Amino acid sequence: MIRSHIKGIGSYVPPKVVTNDDLAKIMTTNHEWIHARTGIEERRFAEEGVFCSDLGLIAARNALKDAHLTENDVDFIIFATLSPDHHFPGSACYLQAKMGIPGVACLDVRNQCSGFLYSLSVADAFVKAGMYKNILVVGAEVHSSALDFTDRGRDVAVLFGDGAGAVVVSASPSPERGIIYSELHADGRHARALYLDIWDISKKPYITEEDAKTRQIWPQMDGKTVFKHAVTRVEEVILHTLEEARVSPEDIKFVIPHQANMRINQFVAAKLKWPEEKFLHNIERYGNTTAASIPLLLDETYREGKIEPGDLLLLFAFGAGFTWGTTLLRW
Ligand code: ACO
Repeated sequence: MIRSHIKGIGSYVPPKVVTNDDLAKIMTTNHEWIHARTGIEERRFAEEGVFCSDLGLIAARNALKDAHLTENDVDFIIFATLSPDHHFPGSACYLQAKMGIPGVACLDVRNQCSGFLYSLSVADAFVKAGMYKNILVVGAEVHSSALDFTDRGRDVAVLFGDGAGAVVVSASPSPERGIIYSELHADGRHARALYLDIWDISKKPYITEEDAKTRQIWPQMDGKTVFKHAVTRVEEVILHTLEEARVSPEDIKFVIPHQANMRINQFVAAKLKWPEEKFLHNIERYGNTTAASIPLLLDETYREGKIEPGDLLLLFAFGAGFTWGTTLLRW
C-alpha cells in the first residue's frame, strides 16, 4: 500500500515582533488580559508590501531544501490561507510565479484554521492515487493588515499573527511511515460565529464607502461560541480518530494542535485526561497564525530535534466555518 509522508518541512515568520504591551499602546488592552485568556505574549507582523505568498515562498524554499528537492520537482501546489494576496486569483498562482514553475497545477484552500489539515488530506489522496509525486502544501497568513486595532476590534485583533509553514508531501519509502489517517468535518450553521463579510456579493455594489466606516471590513467573532464548539468538536474528533486508527493515547508522542488559543488546547487535554505536556505550543510567540500554525509548530519541534523517525503524531485543528479535523502520522 502506498502511503504519503512529509518529505520536507520549513517555515518562516517575519522579523517584526509585536508584544502585548505594544498593542496596549494603540488600544485599551493589557498583557494580563491577553495572556490569561489566550496564552499569547507576542506575535509577528509583516511589513507593508508583503503578501502571504511572499511568506509562503520562504517557507516553501525551506521545505524544499529539507526534502533535498528543487522547485522543478514540485508538480502541484496547494495553498491554504485566510488572508490571500488578493480576492482572486488564488495565492497558489502568485506563489507558483514567484517560484518560476509555470504550468504546475495550483489550488487554494479557504478553510481558515483547518486549511492546512484539509490541504494535507488532499495532497495525501493525490499522492496515493499516483496523480502527483511532490506536492507542496503551504499555509501562510498576513493577518496584520486586516485587523481592527481600535477598541471595537480588540477581542479579535490581539489573537492573530503573521507567518508561514510548508511541507512537501511525497510517497513514503516505507508502508509503516507517513500519513496514517485523516478526518475532516464542517458545520456551516456556525459560519457567522467567525467571519468577514467584506466580500458580500449579494450587495450591489458589493462594497460601499459606508462599509469602510462600519465593522463590515473587519473580522467578527463570537469568541464564547467558538471556544465552546472548539473544545467539544476537538475532543470528539480526537477520540474518533484513535478508535478508527486503533491507536491508544500512550502511542502518541506529541499532539500538534492548531494554535488558536492556549486555553482551548489545555481544556481539551484536561477533558481527555492526557498530560498537558503532550500538547505542544508556540502560541506564546506567534499568536494564532491560522493556516500556518500547524506546519510552523511542527517545523520548530522537528528542528529542535524532538521528533524521531517512527514517532506517532496527532495533528488537530478547529476554525471558522466551523471546520475541524485531525491527521495522524508516523514520522
Ligand atoms: N483587552 C481587554 N479587554 C477585552 C479585550 C482585550 N483585547 N477584548 C475584549 N475585552 C473585554 C470585553 O469587552 C469584555 O468586557 P465587558 O465584560 O466589560 O463587556 C471582557 O473583556 C470579556 O470579554 P469576553 O469576550 O467575554 O472574553 P472571553 O473571556 O470570552 O475571552 C476570547 C475572549 C479570548 C476571544 C475567548 O472567547 C476565546 O478565546 N474564544 C475562542 C477564540 C478563538 O479561538 N478564535 C480563533 C478561532 S480560529 C480561526 O478559525 C481563525
